[in-house]
Amino acid sequence: MKITVDGPAGSGKSYIAKGISERLRIPYLETGLAYRAIGYLLLISEEDLQKVSWSAVEPLLRRLEIVPEVGRTRVLIDGKEVKEDLLRSEEVGRAASIVGTIPQFREFINDLFRKLVGEGQAVIEGRDAGTHIFPDAEIKLFITASPEERARRRWKQLREKGMEVSLEEVLKKILDRDRRDMEREKYPFRPAEDAVVIDTTDMEPEESLKTALGIVLKIQNEKSS
Ligand code: C5P
Repeated sequence: MKITVDGPAGSGKSYIAKGISERLRIPYLETGLAYRAIGYLLLISEEDLQKVSWSAVEPLLRRLEIVPEVGRTRVLIDGKEVKEDLLRSEEVGRAASIVGTIPQFREFINDLFRKLVGEGQAVIEGRDAGTHIFPDAEIKLFITASPEERARRRWKQLREKGMEVSLEEVLKKILDRDRRDMEREKYPFRPAEDAVVIDTTDMEPEESLKTALGIVLKIQNEKSS
């Protein structure tokens, strides 16, 4: 059984995907971490992100290893595990979304994801898990929330980390990232036609996970009867 969980930044998709993986005890592949790891390597090598191309990205991929496990996705660079915090910054997120505009990267990384999961069970989280990586997945969820609510969640997280940012600034960045993801020429970000949409705008995280688990269990039962 493959379960794809797609959605924009701040929609709550990671909480849901991780929660499904933990409850069902199946591996969790957070695809965004591969994009972030390459974005991070580009940032520390001081590449000009506006000009970045496949030839700069390809050699970096050899240094990267992704390991899906129950409840988490491990990322290794040059054989060493990377601390999650390093990959979760706004700056790395922005670099990741630029990496995502390179079609050869998407084709390469999606092949890698398919090999990692193989015929096995997994929860695959991203932007295109249900449309391009596993179009035949048995269960597809699309998690969304209004841009204002997604910005508010992100702003709250940043404030908790002690960062002084305005809500307007965070909203602007969210809208920029949405635009880059949706308007890229190849593989633009769209929900799969057969995905079940969950709008978490007015939900607490626990409620959104409960809703998602309810849908997963219902589809599983229908398929097995
Ligand atoms: O999901 P997360 O916010 O960590 O992803 C960071 C960025 O990586 C996204 O904004 C998107 O541009 C890109 N990405 C993608 N396709 C994926 C996962 C991430 O384009 N499957």
